[in-house]
Amino acid sequence: MPARADNRFPASPRLTGTVSGMVRSQAEESDISHWLAALRDHDEVTYQHSIHLAELVAGFAAFLGLARIHQLYLIRAALLHDVGKITIPRELLAKTGLIDAREYEHLRSHAEAGFVMLMSGTGLPAEIIDVVRHHHEKLDGSGYPDGLIAYQIAPAVRLVTICDIYAALTEHRPYRTPLKPAEALTEMESLHGQLDSMLLMQFRLFILRSHSLRQRMLSLLRGMTTHWLPGAAWITQRRMQSSH
Ligand SMILES: [Fe+2]
Ligand SMILES: [Fe+2]
Repeated sequence: MPARADNRFPASPRLTGTVSGMVRSQAEESDISHWLAALRDHDEVTYQHSIHLAELVAGFAAFLGLARIHQLYLIRAALLHDVGKITIPRELLAKTGLIDAREYEHLRSHAEAGFVMLMSGTGLPAEIIDVVRHHHEKLDGSGYPDGLIAYQIAPAVRLVTICDIYAALTEHRPYRTPLKPAEALTEMESLHGQLDSMLLMQFRLFILRSHSLRQRMLSLLRGMTTHWLPGAAWITQRRMQSSH
């Protein structure tokens, strides 16, 4: 049985319907979809995290004004970044208590495992497979699996890493409560020297702008339902509460 689903994710900064459409279309591509199906069958939480990350990456790449071809590569890389977790036992992925050193190493092995899986004749571009292997590398060399340092880490990897950390900090997990967007950004900015500071600065702007847009949309919607649909205001109110 797949692990129990946990769909209580915070609202991703979905800028437009197009962003979600791009993620959906890439997830349905034949060279991606079967990996995602296998990941979902193995661990629903990791699957949902991968979709959440892809939406963040799509929004951030569009915010940066990257060319569409690069946006698509980044989305595909985000969808597949944790595919190596298929090799990690479900019980370990879902473990809420303390993990020992051996389990910790096993969890970290997912980056290399994903690389090995995708290298075996998938035909995926090297840039995507590079992100899968290196999305836990840090600029100061403290990451894994290769302990790369700044100049060895590609811009695409740096971008996905920033979005991945933010996604993980703001998602519900059985062992901790999610951080609010501003709290997550502050925590990420305290990782001195580990993340690309210029990209992180842009990411802060992206998140803040996305959330203020979302709040404005919700306010507008609340006004519309109050005036046009008596009784529906309660639903909007509940949605706004759940977004905090
Ligand atoms: Fe990962
Ligand atoms: Fe991840």
